[in-house]
Amino acid sequence: MPNIVLVGAQWGDEGKGRVVDLIADKVDVVTRYQGGSNAGHTIVINGETIVLHHIPSGILRQGRLSVIGNGVVVDPGVLLEEIERLRSAGYVVHEENLKLSDRAHVVMPYHKEIDLAREDAMGGTRIGTTGRGIGPVYEDKIARRGIKISDLIDRGTLEKRLRSSLEERNLYLTRVLDRNPIDFEAVFAEYLEYGEKLRPFVTDTTKLLNDLISQRKSILFEGAQGVLLDVDFGTYPYVTSSNSGSGGACTGTGVGPTNIDHVFGVAKAYTTRVGEGPFPSELSGELGLKLREWGGEYGSTTGRPRRCGWFDSVGVKYSARINGISGLALTKLDVLSSFDEIKVCVGYLCDGEMISDFPSNSEVLKRCTPVYEEMDGWKEDLSVVREPSDLPIQAMAYIEKIEETTGVPVNIVSIGASRERVVYLKELFS
Ligand code: IMO
Ligand code: MG
Repeated sequence: MPNIVLVGAQWGDEGKGRVVDLIADKVDVVTRYQGGSNAGHTIVINGETIVLHHIPSGILRQGRLSVIGNGVVVDPGVLLEEIERLRSAGYVVHEENLKLSDRAHVVMPYHKEIDLAREDAMGGTRIGTTGRGIGPVYEDKIARRGIKISDLIDRGTLEKRLRSSLEERNLYLTRVLDRNPIDFEAVFAEYLEYGEKLRPFVTDTTKLLNDLISQRKSILFEGAQGVLLDVDFGTYPYVTSSNSGSGGACTGTGVGPTNIDHVFGVAKAYTTRVGEGPFPSELSGELGLKLREWGGEYGSTTGRPRRCGWFDSVGVKYSARINGISGLALTKLDVLSSFDEIKVCVGYLCDGEMISDFPSNSEVLKRCTPVYEEMDGWKEDLSVVREPSDLPIQAMAYIEKIEETTGVPVNIVSIGASRERVVYLKELFS
């Protein structure tokens, strides 16, 4: 198997965990390269739902190595809980099958406090973040005042870095955000303990991954969030604070682009978005509510109801272009069963002009209205379909319309959360 980057092609929650779980069977290693506990990758196995925030979804496949790369921001308390939850569900998690980069940055309590306080203060202009401290921790990384996992496991360095960071961040919390300062001693003690607990998993993952590549092992890079939430390419400022696109796979793991063979995209058969920001094909009325209820569209990290709308080919075509996506997994197609009519957004009308490219400015995107192609719906229950020839002709026509308007072949269609509910349309990586 080649080395593959898997990215979400929309605004997150595309079902990346579910698709990684399918592909993980065929690779040796699964690595996360960005994001943190803002991600909620849900996998259903034998009726049991597992939500992963930091740990690659490959952990659920026996014999696979899971690597948390340097580009991930780690909330140690949440990660330790995740490990415990997996263990109590019967999965094997130990220092042999889970590795944590010594270069990954650590989410500290003040990051979460700042995230929440800022969102409160912003009122109507808030981003609608997950409140997990993601923006503030990446800010500290770029501002060169962050704390890395290698600092966390070294008492002297942790003390020094925490003191100087906290002094600065407490000024910001108290003077700008009008919050209480955070106490050094309590955080220091708590994080020292986290460091001790995580120490066995910590290693130089850049060396590990490149050594494995030399041994011809195959790696799946599991993106979090989606391309339209990428800090460079997404609907800025309504984005997350990392490169969720395929470029992030290199900077977030230390594997060079010459070692990556394919980029695979995951897109939901309709569109959802959680948090603020433009969403041209959003359905605000009854149809939107129907999609939310039928699709169970509530956040797996925050429980927030997701905004729902029709499939947006303009956005997915753009995602594919800037990420080099050469194949798509289309998830939750079963949710569309029983709509009389289904729409695909194939262009935008903006300031009186038809456009087919995704605008770079969110203010422009806010003014865009969708141009739809209407397709016939189907009534059949798709959950039992396993062969392409058993898909209703209207469903097949819908898939072909997505291929035609995004310019990307659909290789896999998922028609339910459990492992077996999948239809393979085309060879995955030929
Ligand atoms: P997965 O990996 C959907 C959204 C938030 C908010 C914006 C910024 O499960 O697809 P942040 O907390 O990252 O600063 O919030 O990004 N967001 C997600 N939306 N799925 C996710 O992850 C998301 N992670 C962040 O709702 O709009
Ligand atoms: Mg999510």
